Amino acid sequence: MTEIGSDVQRAARILKSGGIVAVPTETVYGLAANAFDEKAVTKIFKAKNRPAFDPLIVHVADDASLASVAAEIPEAAHKLRRHFGPGPLTLVLPKTAQVPDLVTSGLPHVAVRTPNHPAAAELLGMLTFPLAAPSANPFGYVSPVTAAHVAAQLGGSIDYILDGGRCTVGIESTIVAFTDRPKILRLGGLSQEAIEAVIGPVEVAAESSANPAAPGMLTAHYATKKPLVIGHIPTLLKAHNERSPAVLGFTSNYGTAGEILSKSGDPDEAARNLFAAMRRLDESNAGIILAEFLPESGLGRAVNDRLRRAGADRKL
Ligand code: TXA
Ligand code: MG
Repeated sequence: MTEIGSDVQRAARILKSGGIVAVPTETVYGLAANAFDEKAVTKIFKAKNRPAFDPLIVHVADDASLASVAAEIPEAAHKLRRHFGPGPLTLVLPKTAQVPDLVTSGLPHVAVRTPNHPAAAELLGMLTFPLAAPSANPFGYVSPVTAAHVAAQLGGSIDYILDGGRCTVGIESTIVAFTDRPKILRLGGLSQEAIEAVIGPVEVAAESSANPAAPGMLTAHYATKKPLVIGHIPTLLKAHNERSPAVLGFTSNYGTAGEILSKSGDPDEAARNLFAAMRRLDESNAGIILAEFLPESGLGRAVNDRLRRAGADRKL
């Protein structure tokens, strides 16, 4: 079994010698390797069973490191970083030649962010290279928000798990592309409203398409193993009564077995609790998970996006 610990120096040593380490961030845990070392990056794709067409996010310590991976940074991108970096914001920018094609799946652009987590910052500060890191889960499954989540699925196939506690944001970063006009490719831990307050109206990429701009935005992503249905929960409870349903509710569990994301109706708290709740329900005795949407504002939009994908393409 892969060791879990809080030894940042050990994590740095492993990464310097071409290994792969699970690293905490404020959003979700990432599975990291030296972004400039193709052999190390290959190990990430293998451990996650991730298809090579799905590019990785590169994590940088600061603006100097950003300049080593991004060839050009438009003013609006700078502005967003000044306001929200370090934080749950990923920018898609033209890449430098130093970034291997493997990292970007052959795209001329690189996705890059600076995480806002003390252990991640300390680790990046010890290294002379950026870290390529997708979420530390098997491809298609729910992202991990604790070290134990990582160990449950990738333990044994990675070199070390750096434990940084529970992720405080709980859903992945918001991805903004600057390949043309600014466009949100994935809603995440930074709200659309917050971004628009800084750079004005921003288009949001269509939610499900066969050829999505962010390949990880395929439908049936973030999926539980158990079927997950979204709708009006009292109606769903009646319809699926025979299948041992469990509820994934926003402010209530409707008096049945299940999870409450935020008693007070706070979408940020719901985002923080979402993936752990999905995992618990997936491991419970329930036959089917019944979920409901949050109001479509703030992080509610990003939570709804994850629910939609988890519920996609399921036969009822
Ligand atoms: O919060 C996060 O973003 C976490 C933490 C670990 O930083 N990372 C994460 O990575 O969620 P991952 O690999 O699970 O999701 C990355 C998404 C994928 O949908 C991928 O297709 C997209 O970013 N992406 C990566 N590089 C891209 C690029 N050059 N152009 C467009 N999309 C890109
Ligand atoms: Mg992921």
